[in-house]
Amino acid sequence: MTVLLRVNPLSPEPWAISLAAQAIASGGLVAFPTETVYGLGANAFDQEAALRVFRAKGRPADNPLIVHISSLDELYEVAEPPEWLLRVLGKLWPGPLTVVLPRKPAVPDAVTAGLKTVAVRMPAHPVALRLIERSGVPIAAPSANTSSRPSPTRAEHVLEDLWGKVDVVLDGGETFFGVESTIVQVEEKQAYILRPGPYTVEELSKFFPKVELSPYALGASSDRPIAPGMKYKHYAPSKPLFLAADTETLVKVSRELCERGLTHTVLCTKKTSKQIAAPVILLGEGEDLYEVARNLFHSLRLFDRRPEGFGLVEAFEESGVGLAVMNRLKKACGGIVVKSVEDVLRSLGAKGFVEEGSPS
Ligand code: TXA
Ligand code: MG
Repeated sequence: MTVLLRVNPLSPEPWAISLAAQAIASGGLVAFPTETVYGLGANAFDQEAALRVFRAKGRPADNPLIVHISSLDELYEVAEPPEWLLRVLGKLWPGPLTVVLPRKPAVPDAVTAGLKTVAVRMPAHPVALRLIERSGVPIAAPSANTSSRPSPTRAEHVLEDLWGKVDVVLDGGETFFGVESTIVQVEEKQAYILRPGPYTVEELSKFFPKVELSPYALGASSDRPIAPGMKYKHYAPSKPLFLAADTETLVKVSRELCERGLTHTVLCTKKTSKQIAAPVILLGEGEDLYEVARNLFHSLRLFDRRPEGFGLVEAFEESGVGLAVMNRLKKACGGIVVKSVEDVLRSLGAKGFVEEGSPS
């Protein structure tokens, strides 16, 4: 049975937090909002509870979970941070940054997927922080979606995917950033970005002497990535979605598809939508990429419900938070970037959608 509790996101009701904390203490699962996306939490020291998280999500066992903490003291219970890092974390936490560090033995293998490292973060959301504090233990939590689906930015997304599989859902409304935390591997004063997120390269460079982007952060895939999650399908809508190489291409390809009578959805900014004749899902006004990030996963879920058989999505500049947006979009599109209408038709043909070359 799933219990849904509405809470005030900025000042959550103590009774609701208590109830959720009891569920964590008794080995149950609680979905809760963070500043990035909703998490599906369990006691990070409880191997059985962690395994339940994997089952509820249908998550492969070799994809480790992030451990969420509410104080720097808790960091020492789960990881072995270098001394200098504490000063940096003191400035960046609570916030959307996950650090990969050597693990402590207290963290069960199920949580770290047997790795010698553990991913840790202190979320900047009152509901998440109160829940961890009240539970008295760190909380292991992946995003609260079914594996491979878009991450949840609203409680309704959690219910769509996990109704009946999670004990308590704390509904704190929409999350603030809408894309998951920046993950960095920390080595010798260097931050190696495994997954881009709300903390940008530019911002992290003010705190780490050296910041480097892994190829996976830029959208490359590999069978042996450093963050195990990166080899899996992600954020995938149930029908084809193509990333247009740039805005001009998007407008041109959409127009040509319309001329051929091929109905499709376009995910783009309001500014771009003025040049589009096809049905549109708005990602934002056009200038603010944080707005696009906030709307991204909800838009992918809306796209799934549209009657059109496939879609095109606008590309954004890969700087600032745009890097995180593009990383998620490339994955949602299975890495397919289109430069022409022929690219779309070829790809749809390969998917058995339309015969190549037709219709004219
Ligand atoms: O914003 C977020 O990070 C959200 C909220 C709920 O905190 N959580 C989240 O978790 O996005 P999840 O499980 O969807 O993504 C965690 C990623 C996966 O790609 C996983 O492979 C990677 O973190 N990861 C976990 N432990 C790791 C480790 N020890 N080394 C490298 N990557 C790790
Ligand atoms: Mg996830």
